[in-house]
Amino acid sequence: MTNLDTRAIDEAAARLREGLLHAFPTETVYGLGADATNADAVLSIYETKGRPRFNPLIVHCADLEMAERYGTFSLLARQLAETFWPGPLSLVVPLKPGHGLADIATAGLETIALRVPDHPVALGLLRAADRPLAAPSANPSGKLSPTTAEQVRRGFAGKVPVLDGGPCKAGVESTIIAVDGEIVIQLRAGALARETIEEVIGRPVVQAEEGAAISAPGMLLSHYAPNAHMRLDTTPRPGEAFLAFGQEQAFDGTMLNLSLSGDLHEAARNLFSMLHELDATGAGMIAVAPIPETGLGEAINDRLRRAAAPRS
Ligand code: TXA
Ligand code: MG
Repeated sequence: MTNLDTRAIDEAAARLREGLLHAFPTETVYGLGADATNADAVLSIYETKGRPRFNPLIVHCADLEMAERYGTFSLLARQLAETFWPGPLSLVVPLKPGHGLADIATAGLETIALRVPDHPVALGLLRAADRPLAAPSANPSGKLSPTTAEQVRRGFAGKVPVLDGGPCKAGVESTIIAVDGEIVIQLRAGALARETIEEVIGRPVVQAEEGAAISAPGMLLSHYAPNAHMRLDTTPRPGEAFLAFGQEQAFDGTMLNLSLSGDLHEAARNLFSMLHELDATGAGMIAVAPIPETGLGEAINDRLRRAAAPRS
């Protein structure tokens, strides 16, 4: 999958242990990593991204054993972790007393979002650093998430070093799930389809209401925004760039297709890269075709709605 040598990973791990930032690939999107036990290091994530301080970070671990040092797992939470880790699932669980993490990583909440990424470079880095890594998507706050190392470099004007593990295979962020007693709540649709989780646990996964007691503070409506404005429509207008989905369509302008065969995995993988690409053409408006609301379509539509939302 990647020919990154262990030396590059070791160097990045050493940087992280010194309290510096380093971006790295995961199976979902690239992450901007910092040692989650070091408050200054975590603070520089917020500063580098321009991220609001009330928005907690996901803490990445090498395995479930490491994650259990920081979070308290119920039987149900452990079943989810054992089934889907490593993989694109972030679990929100109560913080464990004596966890030793910087408070700013969880934005002072009593819960923590934990995940074990399914990427050889991310796992190699976590093992070499031997630290939990706080890592949001490696983009300036509110902008499109990066799925290549080049997009990370461009987003931060070359100021953040990045391990290049090639394009991310999932292309949208992890699904965020909170387990509250027997109830499983989806805080963010993501690369693991809700239906897949429901099949395993044999119970419904409920969608968090905006503003509910348990929610992901980062789910701001306008987010993932390209520089161009966006609107959702089956038919693009002259002068717009068009992001199509499914069978070929005639359009006399810049057009990319998320998946000609209508495959939602392929569409998720292409989503941010194609938005980056259409944005780079300088188009003022990107029209995006509708996507079915099933499987990964839920995550894709969530990102599209936020990218098209009015900006404050
Ligand atoms: O795929 C991913 O999850 C990527 C890669 C790098 O792992 N990371 C990512 O992080 O998407 P970020 O910071 O862009 O999104 C983290 C989300 C935010 O919406 C935040 O509010 C939520 O996770 N979150 C973090 N801790 C939480 C907690 N304790 N309770 C509820 N939501 C939490
Ligand atoms: Mg993000």
